[in-house]
Parts: sequence; C-alpha cells; structure tokens
Amino acid sequence: MSFPHERPRRLRRTERLRAMVRETTLAPANLVYPLFVAPGEGLKREIPSLPGCFHLSVDEVGREAEEIEKLGIGGVILFGLPSAKDPLGSEGYADDGVVQQAVRAIRAACRDLLVMTDVCLCEYTSHGHCGVVEGGEVRNDPTLALLAKMALSHAKAGAHVVAPSDMMDGRVGAIRAALDGAGFADVPILSYAAKYASAFYGPFREAADSAPQFGDRRGYQMDPANVREALKEVRLDVEEGADIVMVKPALPYLDVVRAVAEASDRPVAAYNVSGEYAMVKAAAARGWVDEERMTTEILTSIRRAGADVILTYHAKDFARRSR
Ligand code: PBG
Repeated sequence: MSFPHERPRRLRRTERLRAMVRETTLAPANLVYPLFVAPGEGLKREIPSLPGCFHLSVDEVGREAEEIEKLGIGGVILFGLPSAKDPLGSEGYADDGVVQQAVRAIRAACRDLLVMTDVCLCEYTSHGHCGVVEGGEVRNDPTLALLAKMALSHAKAGAHVVAPSDMMDGRVGAIRAALDGAGFADVPILSYAAKYASAFYGPFREAADSAPQFGDRRGYQMDPANVREALKEVRLDVEEGADIVMVKPALPYLDVVRAVAEASDRPVAAYNVSGEYAMVKAAAARGWVDEERMTTEILTSIRRAGADVILTYHAKDFARRSR
C-alpha cells in the first residue's frame, strides 16, 4: 500500500463534505442576547464600551425584542440601570423598576421570545457590590432575602427564567423557595454557578454602571485559577435547585465549560462576556481580524467545549448572517 495510508483531507474537499461530517452545530436558537434597560423615554443610545449594543428605555425595548425574536434568537437577558441607587439596591426589587417594566413590555410585544432576568444587586447599590454591605464587608445571609425578592418581582412581571449572578452562598435555594412559595414553581433558575472574578467584565461595568466603589469582587466571585471549585459550585447550585448551570466568562474558561458539561446532568450555559466581545470589536475596527469568521469560530469553540446555551453580545450579528 502506498503512503499515506490515511487521507483525512478527503473529507475536507468541498463544503458539502465538510458540512456532512461537522461535529458541532451553532444556531441562533442556542443564543441569548443581553439587553440594558435605562430610565427615560425614546432612549436608544449606543453603549461606547459595547459597540453595536444599546441602552434602551422601556418604551423602546419591545421593538428591539421583536427584532430579536424575528432573528430566531432564543432569548434575551435583561440588565437594569436604576434612576437612583441606594445601599440596599431597592429599585432592583421594586415592582415598577426598569427591569420589571421591561419584562412586561417584552412579554406584550413578543409571542414566545424567552425573557430572562439577571438577578443581582450591583447595578442598584450605591456601593456597587452584589450584596448587602455592613462594616465594609459584603454580607452573605442578609443578601439572600433581597435576591429572593428581586427574583420574585421578575417572575411576577412575567420573566420566563431568572438568573442569579451575585455568587452569594445559598442564593439558589433561597430563590427557589421564594418562587415555589408564591406559585412560580414552573420558573426555571439559570444560575451563574461558576462565575470568576474576571477582568473581562470591564466593558459591562461601564455599560451597567456597576463597578464596585471600594475593593473588588474577589471575596465572592471565584479565583480564576480554580476548576475543582467550579464543580463544587455547580454541585451545590444543582442541589439547591438550579435548572441550568452557567460558566462565566467563556473563552478563558473553556476547560471549565468542558469539566462542568461532563460532571453535570444539567444543561450548561456559558457567558461570552463583554471583554471577550470588546476585544473582537476593537481588533476588527483596526482591520486586524475578520470579525465574522472570528465570531463564528469563538461561538463554535464554546459549543464544542460543551455549552448548550451561549449568552453573547454577538447574537444579533450572528443571527443576521445565518438567515
Ligand atoms: C452582575 C453581572 C456582571 C456581569 C453579568 N452580571 C458584572 C460583574 O459581576 O461585575 C458581566 C457581564 C459581562 O461582562 O458581559 N453581577
């Protein structure tokens, strides 16, 4: 027999052949697009740190959501910028808060687009931390009731899924109990189970005005060096009732996505965060990379690592191209 015995290139000769044997699929239905809701009227302002993404007022968000639904994107996740912040983040769980109003507006405008809400205090607190601060410390247990209240107010407004991102211990259980106790047993929890203390959140904190005013989040978000700890976080969240478990950020943590996908029987989500998006946008703006190809490659890599669902600012661009 002549050398070489194996010719893997045979299956790469045409796009039909490549498509037939492709191992990983990626569709708009797998994607969730983040939306930032701000006070005001007629507001649609591009976010400087997230080019192509907008701050939207409640009266604009329904139209935007309709467009997202038409593109076949699975869902949206809502973040809110309150009109005023206070130490306990009270606009975060007000029935007429921006996110609660936006949920109602989107539910009225769309037939079945999934409406998810981020459950966390940092956008609403004057100190910018994800929990109640006492004596200069972020206190775990007093935060749980506020998070449960926030999740419940989102569910009452019509959120299909609630997504706690605060990293307090025990919050999934507290939220599950509050939802079940109020007749929302059918509302799933997507927990940011393995959320790392990451520099990749920089552009988001500018977009959501949520940077901590003192210290950092390393006392509650995970150390980037750890992977076994991610499996512990996932196990605890699942025991407390998480329906979907998320790893965040995505690209620098693909090994964690893979480990979680292998260890857990829950669907896995990954958050392709603001800094990951900003790097692509900045390099593309300089003509250094091909944005389309790079985005598809990145999103495919996250799926290949084991994510079922991807939260990404690229969702609309990707979905437009896949039509
Ligand atoms: C809120 C929250 C953050 C992100 C999602 N939810 C910021 C943070 O933890 O500081 C980051 C999302 C992104 O960077 O795209 N806690």
